[in-house]
Amino acid sequence: MRIALIGDIHSYRLLVPPWRLMGKRLVGQANLWLNRRHKFNTRLLERLVERVGVLEPDLVLMSGDLTTTSLEGEFQDVAQMMLPLISRFPTLAVPGNHDRYTFTSARRRVMETMLPAMVPGRWPHFRSLTDRWHLLALDSAVPRVFNSRGRIGRRQLRNIRRETAHLTDQDGLIILCHYPVKAPPRAFPLTWDHKLADSFRLRRMLMKCPARLLYLHGHIHRPWCWQPKRSNQSHFTYINAGSPCMTTAKHPQGQGFWLIDLPDNPRDAFEITHYLPKTNGQSAAYQDLETPAAWEANRVL
Ligand SMILES: [Fe+2]
Ligand SMILES: [Fe+2]
Repeated sequence: MRIALIGDIHSYRLLVPPWRLMGKRLVGQANLWLNRRHKFNTRLLERLVERVGVLEPDLVLMSGDLTTTSLEGEFQDVAQMMLPLISRFPTLAVPGNHDRYTFTSARRRVMETMLPAMVPGRWPHFRSLTDRWHLLALDSAVPRVFNSRGRIGRRQLRNIRRETAHLTDQDGLIILCHYPVKAPPRAFPLTWDHKLADSFRLRRMLMKCPARLLYLHGHIHRPWCWQPKRSNQSHFTYINAGSPCMTTAKHPQGQGFWLIDLPDNPRDAFEITHYLPKTNGQSAAYQDLETPAAWEANRVL
């Protein structure tokens, strides 16, 4: 089974009616004008969508932060940009903190309403992909006024325990959650105001699960794939999707996407490949975005 993983798109609209600029969204839009719009280029997604389509995944997963301030128009833009994939492949997205940016957008479940083909109506969402591989999608995003902490919450944790209780060491479980529960040793530590408040509880619960675990997340705009060495986490593989539209000196054409080929038997080896647009070293502003990108495929596992 082949899975494509796409990270934080952060679609945005610069012009927003003044009556929508209340509370935190005003701060978000100010940050967008002053800072974020210079780094994020959603046009990079067009070529990514094209490349993912060529690879013909069985499932497309999106790890959240599809939008910047949870505006209906931002979700519409994502639906439009992703249409070539959504119309061909099953696609599933979990919310990121930017998709539950305001209390109103969270209460009205704007993401679920605007993207009904991609976003489950209930959380946690559990489904079996094959007779041995299963998927657990989590809603870890809550609106906050002063920080970006996520939360799974007791109800979801209870249901995760129930949904995974039947899994054995012959099974494989893919967890799709916007927030990481752990970062690699050499990465920047997850800060208090930016992390999942109950990450320890979730990780402890998963550590007890005998299935092979593939934990897919976004939130930190830096792609990575790692397997902890500690024996109590040796059944974990973590993948941070990164941000396909964020341009940095290291990734001037965005941080690409991941392709995961699952073995039929979860005990066998994965094939995990990070796809990055080839770059001429220039900033995305100077790249030719009209011609299809050339991609380099870095096999990680
Ligand atoms: Fe995030
Ligand atoms: Fe993000």
